[in-house]
Amino acid sequence: MTSKHFSFFDVSAWGLVLCLLLHVPALETRVDELEQAALKYREQPPPPTPAPPPPPASPRCFHRSRADCPTDSLKCKLVDPTSVFCCDVDSFRLREGLGATMTQNITNLHVLNAEVDELDISQSVYRRLTSMALTDGNIGKITGQFRKYSSIACLNISNNNLSSATFQPSVRPFAYLYNLSVLDASANNLTEFPLSLVHSNRKISVDLSGNKYLPCKHFQRAMESNNSSLVTFANYNKTYCALDLRFNWFKDVQIVQIDHLRVQRELNASCRNIKPSSVVCTCVAERLELLAGEVTNSVAVDCSRRHLKEMPLNLPLNTVKLNVSYNNITSLQAVGDDPSYEHLRQLIADHNDIPNIVELEGTKFIDNFMLFSINHNKLKTIHTYVLSNKFDTTGPYTTVSLAGNYIHCDCNTEKVLKPWLAENSKYITDYKSLECQDGLGPVYDLAEFQVCHTPRDWTDYIYYIIGLEVLTLVLLISKVSYDYWVFKTAGYLPWPANKMPRLPCDWLCE
Ligand SMILES: *[C@@H]1O[C@H](CO)[C@@H](O)[C@H](O)[C@H]1NC(C)=O
Ligand SMILES: *[C@@H]1O[C@H](CO)[C@@H](O)[C@H](O)[C@H]1NC(C)=O
Ligand SMILES: *[C@@H]1O[C@H](CO)[C@@H](O)[C@H](O)[C@H]1NC(C)=O
Ligand SMILES: *[C@@H]1O[C@H](CO)[C@@H](O)[C@H](O)[C@H]1NC(C)=O
Ligand SMILES: *[C@@H]1O[C@H](CO)[C@@H](O)[C@H](O)[C@H]1NC(C)=O
Ligand SMILES: *[C@@H]1O[C@H](CO)[C@@H](O)[C@H](O)[C@H]1NC(C)=O
Ligand SMILES: *[C@@H]1O[C@H](CO)[C@@H](O)[C@H](O)[C@H]1NC(C)=O
Ligand SMILES: *[C@@H]1O[C@H](CO)[C@@H](O)[C@H](O)[C@H]1NC(C)=O
Ligand SMILES: *[C@@H]1O[C@H](CO)[C@@H](O)[C@H](O)[C@H]1NC(C)=O
Ligand SMILES: *[C@@H]1O[C@H](CO)[C@@H](O)[C@H](O)[C@H]1NC(C)=O
Ligand SMILES: *[C@@H]1O[C@H](CO)[C@@H](O)[C@H](O)[C@H]1NC(C)=O
Repeated sequence: MTSKHFSFFDVSAWGLVLCLLLHVPALETRVDELEQAALKYREQPPPPTPAPPPPPASPRCFHRSRADCPTDSLKCKLVDPTSVFCCDVDSFRLREGLGATMTQNITNLHVLNAEVDELDISQSVYRRLTSMALTDGNIGKITGQFRKYSSIACLNISNNNLSSATFQPSVRPFAYLYNLSVLDASANNLTEFPLSLVHSNRKISVDLSGNKYLPCKHFQRAMESNNSSLVTFANYNKTYCALDLRFNWFKDVQIVQIDHLRVQRELNASCRNIKPSSVVCTCVAERLELLAGEVTNSVAVDCSRRHLKEMPLNLPLNTVKLNVSYNNITSLQAVGDDPSYEHLRQLIADHNDIPNIVELEGTKFIDNFMLFSINHNKLKTIHTYVLSNKFDTTGPYTTVSLAGNYIHCDCNTEKVLKPWLAENSKYITDYKSLECQDGLGPVYDLAEFQVCHTPRDWTDYIYYIIGLEVLTLVLLISKVSYDYWVFKTAGYLPWPANKMPRLPCDWLCE
């Protein structure tokens, strides 16, 4: 027992030793590297012009928390020789506090909760600042413009109930902030993107999260500008923009994550790959949804009115809706053949020259579709079996639209298609508008007598013949019976039996 225990301990101990032995050299080299790096650093003379430090992952302006607020009546205090922190000030106290604390050496300022009607940023107190933060307050209006070649590198105007209307019109307050690398304007009500910031060729991190009504167009411009890599959006996933913003009209605006724009840009690229290459379709991301178990942006493609002679090929990934109305398409073959149709659920092919739907038989589209609209085409016949299976298995959200087709109607149409339309009227909402050729009117109103002439006459005739035959038979039998009765009672055969030549079988009767 003990020996066993010991051996176990031994093994562990040796393992530990081995482990240490293996790791010590590594530790040593690491220490060496550090020391060498430190030495190198010490040996190097400080660079003549301090290179701009690479912006950290989430750079912060000079920022103090409420716990550090000055407690005396002067609302501003010196935090360190270059930094001033003020709390809960109005215009008067701000002027007073800054007057008492701001010196030539101050480069950092944080004012927490400034309740000011008007903030003039061109004032000389702000001139030497490199970091300026006015946060969590209420600023009625920003006037003036930062001075030319202002050295401000970080500006935080977060959470001040600022709207774009509070900037002086015609003045771009940020126009001269050539050294700005961080702008935090989050949690405001801005409706205009400070585009002047991103035109300068500098790396800049912009936080505009919590502003609901910034137009997407502005973000798009910023992202597409020559060096889009220079602009990064802090809180990217929490930054939203408004599609189709009209001034002062917030009602029907669609608010999307700015990532939507990236998706749309990529989508625009794959939209240009649709074949034939001469066609220019438009593609939009419809919404996020689960496709094949993954959250994906489903895509709607509009190729309507493009003079297409055949179905477009090579649709963008996850295309769920395709509109090819008003073209000259003559075949649906691609729906089954082209793999890019695999997720298609809505196909609108109105106003084309498609003669039948037989090419859809067995396609994934038939299994998946929710809307199939083929109004105003050249359908001459409806291959009901292509759709019947689908209708038998589908839920209520399936719609087929067939109106404005003039199909060839015969008795079979009346006997098969008409009842099929009635049976599936739940799915074929416009079933009453499927027409017959030759002015026969809607299929649904087709009457038997309109299309079933010949077959009906023929069957009637058969009944007449049968009736006639039965009658003849009855007459014949009664005549024979009468003859027999006369022969038995009167002993002679009535005419014409007595005129008949004797047949070899007659002996049977005798
Ligand atoms: C700006 O101020 C807000 C609110 O106090 C703070 O949450 C945020 O971190 C600051 N941003 C920067 C870049 O310092
Ligand atoms: C500014 O800083 C310098 C040293 O960096 C110091 O000599 C000077 O007194 C400071 N000025 C004020 C007004 O604090
Ligand atoms: C802007 O920054 C650069 C380097 O970061 C510096 O050399 C230059 O003096 C700054 N400009 C101003 C106006 O502060
Ligand atoms: C925000 O600003 C608007 C005017 O732009 C003002 O009516 C509203 O009272 C402000 N909200 C707060 C919480 O101060
Ligand atoms: C600004 O946004 C706040 C909420 O963030 C809202 O209460 C206020 O009404 C908005 N003001 C304007 C002028 O849109
Ligand atoms: C990109 O830069 C070129 C010249 O460098 C300029 O003509 C063009 O307008 C710029 N495009 C955008 C979108 O800024
Ligand atoms: C974009 O910025 C990078 C890095 O600052 C630079 O190397 C590149 O030349 C710039 N491209 C353009 C088109 O300005
Ligand atoms: C945004 O969210 C997505 C997932 O929803 C994540 O993959 C991505 O890394 C996030 N981006 C940023 C910048 O946080
Ligand atoms: C995508 O293309 C449409 C035109 O087809 C254009 O209006 C839109 O601005 C483009 N979007 C992006 C993000 O490139
Ligand atoms: C399809 O495109 C046509 C022509 O542009 C348009 O009138 C129709 O509303 C579109 N249909 C759907 C369902 O988007
Ligand atoms: C295409 O269809 C339109 C009607 O939708 C028709 O006017 C036009 O002549 C057709 N073009 C060709 C080449 O068939």
